Amino acid sequence: MPKDYLPDGGLAASPVALDAAWGALKTAAKQRNSSIADSFVAEPDRMSRFTARCGGLFADLSKQDIDQAGLDALMALARAARVDALRDAMFSGETINHTEGRAVLHPLLRASARDRAAGPADARAMAAEERRRAEAFAAEVIDGRARGSAGGFTDVINIGIGGSDLGPALVASALGHGGLAQTVHFVSNVDGAALGPLLKTLKPETTLVIVCSKTFSTLETRTNAETVKRWLVSGLGEAGARRHFAASTSAPEAAIAFGVDEDRIFKIWNWVGGRFSLWSTVGLAAMIAIGPIAFREFLYGAAAMDEHFVQAPFERNLPVLLGAVDVWQRSIAKRGSRAVAVYDERLKLLPSHLQQLEMESNGKGVDRNGAAVREGSAAVVWGGVGCDAQHAFFQMLHQGPDVIPVEFLIAKNGGAPNLKTHHRLLMANCFAQSRALMTGLSHQEAAARLVAEGRSREDAEALAPHMVCPGDRPSTTILLDQLDAHTLGMLLALAEHRVLVAGAIYGVNSFDQFGVELGKRIARSVDERLRGVDGAAPLDPSTELLIKQSS
Ligand code: F6P
Repeated sequence: MPKDYLPDGGLAASPVALDAAWGALKTAAKQRNSSIADSFVAEPDRMSRFTARCGGLFADLSKQDIDQAGLDALMALARAARVDALRDAMFSGETINHTEGRAVLHPLLRASARDRAAGPADARAMAAEERRRAEAFAAEVIDGRARGSAGGFTDVINIGIGGSDLGPALVASALGHGGLAQTVHFVSNVDGAALGPLLKTLKPETTLVIVCSKTFSTLETRTNAETVKRWLVSGLGEAGARRHFAASTSAPEAAIAFGVDEDRIFKIWNWVGGRFSLWSTVGLAAMIAIGPIAFREFLYGAAAMDEHFVQAPFERNLPVLLGAVDVWQRSIAKRGSRAVAVYDERLKLLPSHLQQLEMESNGKGVDRNGAAVREGSAAVVWGGVGCDAQHAFFQMLHQGPDVIPVEFLIAKNGGAPNLKTHHRLLMANCFAQSRALMTGLSHQEAAARLVAEGRSREDAEALAPHMVCPGDRPSTTILLDQLDAHTLGMLLALAEHRVLVAGAIYGVNSFDQFGVELGKRIARSVDERLRGVDGAAPLDPSTELLIKQSS
C-alpha cells in the first residue's frame, strides 16, 4: 500500500495537538449550560456566529445545541486535524486516497469549466476535452442529430448504480423540467421489476441506452446492460443495436468489447471517485435531461462552492461549519443518525445521494493509519420530503427518547409560480418544525392548554405527559434563494466538502470503500450455489437453508 501522504508530506496532524483539541471540545460540551432557546439570550451575536452564506445558499446553524465556546472548540479541532492541509492536498492532486493510491480530483471537473487552476494541467485538459465531447453529444441527442438505427431518440435509459446513478438521477429529477424532447429513465437495481416494466413501455428504435459504470464490471449494471442489449438486438439486429448505446467509463476497452461504438464512449478516470463522479461524463444522462447549458451552470455553482471552501475563514466556511457540527453530533453528543427533511419535491432523491456520499465515505472503523477510530465516524443519514415526512417520522423526532438532529432544506422561491399559497404554507411548516423541535412543549403548557380547552384539571394532568415534547432538539436549516442549476451545484459540492471535513476530523480515509467489496464477492459465491455449480463451496447453515427454501 502506498504510504499515507500525510506523514510523507509532513502535513500530518500532531497527536498532541489533536488530543488537546478533543479534550477542549469535550470540556466545552460539559460546560454548556443553556438550552438552545436560551442561547439566543445568552449570546447576543449568536445569529451572526452560527449562520453563513455562499451566493444564494444560506445556512442557519443557530438552532444547534452548541454554544459559542463549543463552536470555538470545534473550529480549533478542525485546525488541529489539519482540515486545511487535506483540502489543499485534494485540490493540488496529491494521492490523498492513499489506500487505493489515487488522487481525489473531482473539483477539477468543475474548475476546468472555467479554466481555473486546480489539479495537474494534463488532467484538466483531459477533463475539459471529455466534457466538450459529452456536451456535444447531449446537444445532438436533444436536437435529434444523434441518430439510432431509425432516427432520433425519444427516450434515454441510464443504466448504472451507486454514484453512477444517484447523483445524475437527482440532478435530472431536480432540474429536468426544461421541456427537452427526451424522457430520461434511470435503472439501477438488478431486480427485474425495475427494468422489465420499463422496457415494455419503450421502443428499441427510439431508445438510447447509456451504460454508466466507472469500472464497467459492476454486476447489477452488467446484468441490466446485457438484458437491454438482447432487447435492442431482437428489435434492431446486432449492427443496428450498436448505435443505441453510449457509455461513461474508465474502462473503454470493456465498453467496446460489450458493443459500444468508440465515438460514443465518454471517459472518466480513477481520480474521480464513484460517489463524486456526477460532475464528469457520468452526468451525461443528467446533461441530456437538463441540457448542456444548464449542466455548465451546475458546474459553475459547484466551482463557486469550491472557491468558498478554499477562501473563506473556517468560522464563515460552510463545509467546515457543517462538517464540524456533524462531528459534534456524532462524536460528542453520540447521536447515531441525522434526518434530512427536504421541503422541495424536486429534491426527493437528495437523501439517497447524501446516504452514499456520507456513509460510503466516512462509514469507516479505522483511521488513516489503520488503527481503530477513537471518536466514531459517520452517522446514519436518512430522510424524506416535507411535509410528507411530518406525517411519517416527525412524531419520533419530537417525542422519541433518542435525540435525532435534523437538517431542513427549502428554497425561498420554490414551488410552482402560480401556486404561491402552497409555497408559503410549505415554508411555514418547515420553519415551524425546527422551532417546535427547539421549544418543545412542557407538562405545564400542555396541561394549561387542555384546561383552556375545557378539560378537567384531573384529566389534563393525566393527559399532559403524553403531549410533552422535550424540546432542545437540534437542527440546521439550509435556505436556497431558488433551486436552479447553479444553486444545486453549490449544494452538492457543499455536501462533498463537508464529508472531507468530517472525515479529516474523524481521521478516516473518506475516499475508499472496501466494505462494499465483501458483499459483492460473497454474492458471487451465493450465486454459484443458487445455480448449483459443481464444486461450489457450501456456505453457512443459515445461508444454505435460505438457498434451499428459495429453490
Ligand atoms: O457502491 C460501491 C461502488 O463502487 C460505488 O462507489 C460506485 O459508485 C458504484 O459501486 C458503482 O460502480 P461502477 O460505476 O464502477 O459501476
